[in-house]
Amino acid sequence: MPVEIAPSILTADFANLERELDRVANADWVHLDVMDGHFVPNLTIGLPVVRRIAQISPLPADVHLMIEDPDRFAPDYAAAGAKSVTFHLEAARGPVRLARELRALGAKAAVAINPATPVAALADLIDEVDMILIMSVEPGFGGQSFIERSLSKLRQAKELIGSRPVKLEIDGGADRTTVPRIAAAGADVIVAGSAVFGAVDPAAEIRALRELAR
Ligand code: DX5
Ligand code: ZN
Repeated sequence: MPVEIAPSILTADFANLERELDRVANADWVHLDVMDGHFVPNLTIGLPVVRRIAQISPLPADVHLMIEDPDRFAPDYAAAGAKSVTFHLEAARGPVRLARELRALGAKAAVAINPATPVAALADLIDEVDMILIMSVEPGFGGQSFIERSLSKLRQAKELIGSRPVKLEIDGGADRTTVPRIAAAGADVIVAGSAVFGAVDPAAEIRALRELAR
């Protein structure tokens, strides 16, 4: 399976989201960063915006919830049409229950871990999820530099996944210089915000990143 590219709209023009989606039409997912100003020190979009994007986007929505109390709010994003809903392990009170609820709503359930959370913390959740997201920056902002230690976390996560049908996603600091190492470490889905939307031609950048990941 070729590596999938998920452009994060965090660095896109928020006043022209429909046009921005057009510019990344050759991507595999659109990555939507929901931040609540509590779990992370930034505030972005919420349910009404995600719902509309899910309705109009030709790309499946990969919703990344950087919020407190995902147990309460995450199911609404599945119901709003997100194809995949990622909650943070650090924020969830009942991660197994929440993953099951998301799947029951027809979404893929994904769990994210921050840079300082060990991969081992996912061991008892691995059979309940469709995807693991390794944060390779502290969540909250686009344009930060890649934390190199994330590469060994990717390899550990790959080993934990084994033959299970669980995808491995990485988020933060992916660009032309880091993507070859990220792909070699086993990532299946690469989120790229500033690298894609900061490029003159985002579609060409997606092609370049895919090529570098081969
Ligand atoms: C960070 C977000 C990322 C971010 C990635 O908290 O979860 O999705 O937009 O941006 P870049 O690719 O610029 O690091
Ligand atoms: Zn994200």
